Amino acid sequence: MTTDGPRTRLPAAVDPTVLLTAADLRRSLELDVREGLTAPPRWLPPKYFYDDRGSRLFDRITRLPEYYPTRTEHSILVASAAEIARLSGAEVLLELGSGSSEKTRILLDALAAGSLTGYVPVDVSAGALREAIAGLAHDYPDLPVYGVVADFDLHLHRLPAPGRRLVALLGGTLGNYPPAQRGVFLQRLAASMHVGETLLLGLDLVKDPARLVAAYDDADGVTAEFNRNVLSVLNRELGADFDPLRFAHVALWDVEREWIEMRLRADSPMTVRVPALGLDLSLGAGEEIRTEISAKFRPEVAEGELEDAGLHPEGWWTDPAGDFALVLARR
Ligand code: SAH
Ligand code: AVI
Repeated sequence: MTTDGPRTRLPAAVDPTVLLTAADLRRSLELDVREGLTAPPRWLPPKYFYDDRGSRLFDRITRLPEYYPTRTEHSILVASAAEIARLSGAEVLLELGSGSSEKTRILLDALAAGSLTGYVPVDVSAGALREAIAGLAHDYPDLPVYGVVADFDLHLHRLPAPGRRLVALLGGTLGNYPPAQRGVFLQRLAASMHVGETLLLGLDLVKDPARLVAAYDDADGVTAEFNRNVLSVLNRELGADFDPLRFAHVALWDVEREWIEMRLRADSPMTVRVPALGLDLSLGAGEEIRTEISAKFRPEVAEGELEDAGLHPEGWWTDPAGDFALVLARR
C-alpha cells in the first residue's frame, strides 16, 4: 500500500500472504548469482543465507557469547519499549526481516498497553516466518498476526497498512546494505510510510575491532557454518557443486569503511559448475567471495542519513556501554 492507499482492517491469518513466491526468489537468486559470481571481486547478497537451515544457524548466532547485538538490543527494548510505544502511538507493528520475532514480543507487550490492533511480520524466509507465526498464535492468542513473505527490496509499497504503523527494522539489518543502497532503501521506506508513522531502527555501533571481529568469528564456528551455508543454498537451488568445506570463513574489520566484511576463501584452485546458469567458475587458491558486510554506525551519521530520507529522529536509546542503539524516527 502506498502512502495514500486505503487503511483497511485485516483478518488474523495463520498462513502468511506470499508476495514473494519460491519461483520469484529463485529468479532473483539466478540474477544475483550470475552478477555476483562473475564480478571481480566475486560477491553474493546476504539475503540468500536465510533458508531454513540458515535461519536456524542465525538463531544460534544470536545466543553465542561473542555475538552481543541481540542480547544488547533485547536489554534496550526491555528498558525502553514502553516509551517507544507511547511515542509511536502505533496501532500496528510492521516488522521488516522479522526472523524469529523473539525480541519483538517486548514491543508487542508494550504496544498492547496502548492501541495495538495487529502485528505484521515480514520476511523473505517463509520457514522462519511460519514458525514465528505459530509461536505467536500460541502465546498471543488474541493478537491478529498477519505475516507476509516478501522481499523488502521489492515489496515495501505493497505491505499492509491496517492502521497507524510502527515499522521496525531490528538487529542491525540496515547495516547489511552498502552505503549507497542503504540510502536508496531508506528513501523507499520513507516513501512507503504514511506521514506521522514511525520507524524503529536497531543499529550496531562502532566499537573495539577485536570485539567486532569475535562477534563474526565465534569460537564454536557457528558463524562460519552460517557463512558456508550460502554455498549449500547455491548447490541445492542451482545444482552448483561447491564443496563448502574447501572454503575458509573470513571475518575482517574494514577500518576506513567501518564495516565487518564476511568472505569465503577458496583453500586451493578449483572449478565450480553452476549448471542452472551455464557457468563454470575458476577460482584461484586464496580467492575470496564477499558474502556480507555489516556496517557499524556512529549516531550522528545515522541521524543525517535518516534526515536525508525524510525520517526525523525523535528518540535514541542505548545500553550503558554504548554498544548498540535504537532510534525512533518519524515520517
Ligand atoms: N530481526 C531479527 C532477525 C535478523 S536476521 C533480529 O533482529 O534478530 C535478518 C532477517 O532478515 C532474516 O530473518 C532474513 O530472512 C531477513 N531478510 C534478509 N533480507 C531480506 C529481504 N531482502 N527482505 C525480507 N527479509 C529479509
Ligand atoms: C542480520 N544481520 C544484522 C546480522 C549481522 O550481524 O550483520 C547477520 C549476521 N551475520 C553474521 N552474523 C550475523
